[in-house]
Amino acid sequence: MKRLLALIAAALMMAPTVCHADEGMWIPMLLGRNQAAMQKAGMHITAQDIYDINKASLKDAVLLFGGGCTGEFVSDEGLVLTNHHCGYSYIVKHSTVEHDYLTNGFWAMTREQEIPCPGLTVTRLVYMQDVTKEVLDGVTEGMSEGDRETIIENNIKAVSAKATEGTHYKAVIKPFYYGNQYFMYVNEVFTDVRLVGAPPSNIGKFGGDTDNWMWPRHTGDFSMFRVYVDGSNKPAAYSKDNVPYRPLKHLEISLKGVDEGDFTFVFGYPGTTRRYVTHDYVDLAANQENPVRIALRTIRLDHYNAAMRQSAAQRLKYASRVAGIANGWKKWQGESLGIERLHGVEQKMAQEEQFRQWAKDKPQYRDVLDSMEANYAQLREVSLEWTYFNEAVMASDFMQRAYRLFRIQRNSDTALVTSMRADSEKYFEDFDQHSPVDEAIFVETFLYMWEHGYAPYMNLKHSTDAEVEATLHKVYAKSILNNPKKLEKVLSMKREKMIHAIGTDPAVQIFSQAYNYCYGGDKRQRHSTANDNIQRLMRTYIKGMMEQYPDSNFFPDANLTLRVAYGHVEGFKPKDATYYTAYSTIDGIMEKENPDVYDYRVEPRLKELWQKKDYGHYATKKGELPVAFIATNHTTGGNSGSPVLNADGQLVGINFDRCWEGTMSDLLFDPAYCRNISLDIRYCLFIIDKYAGARHLVDEMTLVEQ
Ligand code: ARG
Ligand code: ASP
Repeated sequence: MKRLLALIAAALMMAPTVCHADEGMWIPMLLGRNQAAMQKAGMHITAQDIYDINKASLKDAVLLFGGGCTGEFVSDEGLVLTNHHCGYSYIVKHSTVEHDYLTNGFWAMTREQEIPCPGLTVTRLVYMQDVTKEVLDGVTEGMSEGDRETIIENNIKAVSAKATEGTHYKAVIKPFYYGNQYFMYVNEVFTDVRLVGAPPSNIGKFGGDTDNWMWPRHTGDFSMFRVYVDGSNKPAAYSKDNVPYRPLKHLEISLKGVDEGDFTFVFGYPGTTRRYVTHDYVDLAANQENPVRIALRTIRLDHYNAAMRQSAAQRLKYASRVAGIANGWKKWQGESLGIERLHGVEQKMAQEEQFRQWAKDKPQYRDVLDSMEANYAQLREVSLEWTYFNEAVMASDFMQRAYRLFRIQRNSDTALVTSMRADSEKYFEDFDQHSPVDEAIFVETFLYMWEHGYAPYMNLKHSTDAEVEATLHKVYAKSILNNPKKLEKVLSMKREKMIHAIGTDPAVQIFSQAYNYCYGGDKRQRHSTANDNIQRLMRTYIKGMMEQYPDSNFFPDANLTLRVAYGHVEGFKPKDATYYTAYSTIDGIMEKENPDVYDYRVEPRLKELWQKKDYGHYATKKGELPVAFIATNHTTGGNSGSPVLNADGQLVGINFDRCWEGTMSDLLFDPAYCRNISLDIRYCLFIIDKYAGARHLVDEMTLVEQ
């Protein structure tokens, strides 16, 4: 009882079930519901200016960039702005030691110099529609989950086919509120996207992984692309005859900048949040999975970083993957800390207690949380195996390639052999036959699993770390995977013989053992059953919460669909006796400068402009050159590259990150700590114009001085 009272008291003091003022990622089509609040917060435009299907609106300028970032049109000739880290893999792909665009930057001075990026798409939302009724047509209360899924799947196919019939559009239908509602997105997907500009790494990634997820920040995190189309302004595959796209709308850019307290909104594609999960999820993520993921990624990062320090070639080789590994690694650390600081688990338990009280006499909701706990208990028994598989077993190229052989062994599809061959050729071109880095990662991640009791299959033969380690090295040395000739010999054998040969390979053997340990028996089934049940229970739980708090506006969790988040430019107090102001300037770059630290090297030309205070009309009234600012907009992964707009709907920044103290915002939003970080558009323009001398690109844009 005492515990219960303490929990309820805690709930009253801490975050309520309903949303905080600045929390939320709202659906553009339904933004009318937020309009009054947004205008009260300072917005001058209307919800219709943001999303309208009858005439061009801001949404026509906002794009899904690739598969997980946002971009925006900033000229009537299809010029797109996004983050440097969103264009990163394309910048890397076009870089060589001789033409190192990653290190030195790249600026197309003519249209001919713009570089095609095969595989890169950008997607524009044409319109969206609530299709809940159509998708749930035929679904009944008591039916099995399987039947429900089949009906929904078929309905989705039919509805999307009908919506896009006779057009070049593509439709996507996604569940909201765990399947209580469905929306359809009818999109236009552009497939000829070219690289136009990128600053050098020591501007575009200034601060590197040291500053990543942190404020104060000085990263010039932007890059530029251009969308090309056929003669009728429609998406087309790359062709040299394609012409720049003429968008329905491109964003105006405000040179006025922002001040503390100003209204801003972020318009983009947030990927995933889990705002409504129960305490078990929070505990599992923060206290069990994150620590394992972090430890295993530390192993990988140590080896890659050491290799990258050795040569320019190695730096280019590993840059892109390290950026991804390091990003998650650091975010999870911040997330776990944030959850601990907020007593996230207890907070959730307290909310659940309130729900239980409310649901006591409601048979449809009464048992949902008990069932949820029971399913989490099941999930806990197998969830770390899942984590170990992804973060340890699959950590090395060696094991990823062993997985391909393993699939060939189990599947008679000859395409797998063809792709293994092509992939290996490419692999041996890019990486050494014997890669000490990859070998070390393989050995150490398996050793880690063994030491933590997650590789019991190795216990049979060994008792000491040294023995395990020696065996792992032997596996690496003896496998055909690192011997192109032997590998080719096996891949050209007749199927039966090939399968036998693959089966005797030590890499495939250890991979199979690991696979069976993590997923074998009924483990995979248990994992997915528990997860499916939890999803289904969440559908009921969230429906219940909406009834429990009928006057609140519950935002749907992010699901990589277009959303609007709004808030204010605002500093915060990260810890006792410390206050972070809302914007950073170029002076901070020079404060951080350290020629001995890779992340803090400063371009001589940038320094020169700073010394002369040659900021053009990009400076503030005080004569400072702003670099980045923070605000209370609720954002997440996928929002990178999103336009940050002012009260008049003009571009003032490009969203690229969140502050360390608020990285738990996917699960728990705390207005005191959660801040998104945006590049000030004036710094971006300054770099293009003053630093790179690519004035022609700025001239394409629509700048508003006042
Ligand atoms: N943290 C930002 C986001 O989640 C930026 C990541 C890219 N930067 C990096 N240093 N890895 O995407
Ligand atoms: N940096 C993230 C992205 O790439 C944004 C975030 O997680 O805040 O989308």
